[in-house]
Amino acid sequence: MFSFTLPVITLATAASKDPGILVIGLAETSDGDILVGLSEDLAKSATKALGADVASLARELGGSAKNGKAVLLALPAGRKVVVVGIGPIDVTAEQLRRAAGAAVRLIEGLPASQPHRITLSLDTAEPSLIEGAGEGALLGCYRYGPAKSENPGIGSITLISSNKKPEAKQALDLAAVTAAAVVQARNWVNTPANLLYPESFAESARALAKASKLSVEVWDDKALEREGFGGIMAVGGGSDRKPRLVKLSYSPRGAKFHLSLVGKGITFDTGGLNLKPADSMYTMKSDMGGAAAVLAAISAIAKLGLRIQVTAWAALAENMPSGSSYRPSDVLTMYGGLTVENSNSDAEGRIVMADTLVKASQDSPDLVVDVATLTGACMVALGERVAGLMARDDETADLILDAAEVAGELFWQLPIPEDAGPKLESKVADTKSTGDRYGGALSAAAFLSKFVPEQTSWAHLDIAGPSFNSGSAHDYTPTGGTGASVRTLIALAQARAN
Ligand code: BES
Ligand code: ZN
Ligand code: ZN
Repeated sequence: MFSFTLPVITLATAASKDPGILVIGLAETSDGDILVGLSEDLAKSATKALGADVASLARELGGSAKNGKAVLLALPAGRKVVVVGIGPIDVTAEQLRRAAGAAVRLIEGLPASQPHRITLSLDTAEPSLIEGAGEGALLGCYRYGPAKSENPGIGSITLISSNKKPEAKQALDLAAVTAAAVVQARNWVNTPANLLYPESFAESARALAKASKLSVEVWDDKALEREGFGGIMAVGGGSDRKPRLVKLSYSPRGAKFHLSLVGKGITFDTGGLNLKPADSMYTMKSDMGGAAAVLAAISAIAKLGLRIQVTAWAALAENMPSGSSYRPSDVLTMYGGLTVENSNSDAEGRIVMADTLVKASQDSPDLVVDVATLTGACMVALGERVAGLMARDDETADLILDAAEVAGELFWQLPIPEDAGPKLESKVADTKSTGDRYGGALSAAAFLSKFVPEQTSWAHLDIAGPSFNSGSAHDYTPTGGTGASVRTLIALAQARAN
């Protein structure tokens, strides 16, 4: 399996004499750009030695105050400084996340004989800014692909902050736990589907649960069949790798809110008998990004000891064409008894999610949030970097949007309009699985809503776009699996914990 482990990050009040590569910022003010995090001493000696100030040198090399623009300066005596654009001086946590991520990513790519040591000096005193900078720096360390001997990556990070209170350390710990969860999700998503399949994914989830003191339950194909999970069984039926359902539970004493998370875990989506065109298939090892996100998030929530009950469900199946595949026009009896006319075997995500939403709702949670790489239509609507959010009520939608804002993730609310329902009418079953060619993300949400009881608060996150970056790395986002929505789920749990 794909594995990448994060370096340690520690706090210090000042840079040591031997700081490794120093990262400082360049920020925009109304009076022009200013350097951030460069001590007066170093600024003076550097200016003297260089015959020019660090900011103008950075600009000459193509640097700017634009958020996330990083350049490397080689100073005398072998010292290296990275100047990274912060954007406007009244910084947000997300600006620092991006700046730190971009700077660290630049350093990560530099060849060296030993792992790089980094000192990040970005003038962070506020806990939320410490968290942002720390998280961005850690996430920027991630590498998609095997380690290379001439490029050993990042060995350690020191974050400079004038804040000596326990809140500073707490903020950095939160950053480290959150980043570790994002990395876990990225590792799972990046693992190719010949290695990560329902059974091996379930075993990996079990190992994670053990390490995070969570309870685990796994349904194998026999148990799924016996208990009537007709959706998961149908989708998984075409593959030799049999489906699984994973439940991780965290129930700390005194918790007053129960959050239920449901993730789509299609370990490979060929489209099934409605086979995808070859070009659309290459990234489909990432079709378990929702399951990865909910499993990683609950492990972080438990590690942080948040006082909230959380249950994470992962519906795991491989969508393959074969003699045992479910067919377009099949009528499936789902968990709970509703029948579904399968109108397209490539709309498999909503089928496995439907079974799991019914099962999750049986615990009467206060809120169900499902996370799925559900529709290409959502990417057509919102692009590759913005996730869709659909909810029955605006209060629930706002709760998610607020958490996403804190976490620095991009979501945009889409409606579940009245006309989405009738599109799903079937002559042979309670519902069809797909609507027409318009508003595909919305009809998918309308379909899912039939499997969540009316009185249950529910939100649906369509992360088809942001869960996998097929392009080049940017800011703290690598190529490949991104860990999209992990941070929002953790922030949501924080907001609802007592
Ligand atoms: N896994 C795909 C959605 C997807 C597409 C995720 C691209 C990430 C990138 C999903 O199972 C799918 O194929 N959906 C179909 C639904 C259609 C058949 C109604 C789609 O979006 O085309
Ligand atoms: Zn599909
Ligand atoms: Zn899919």
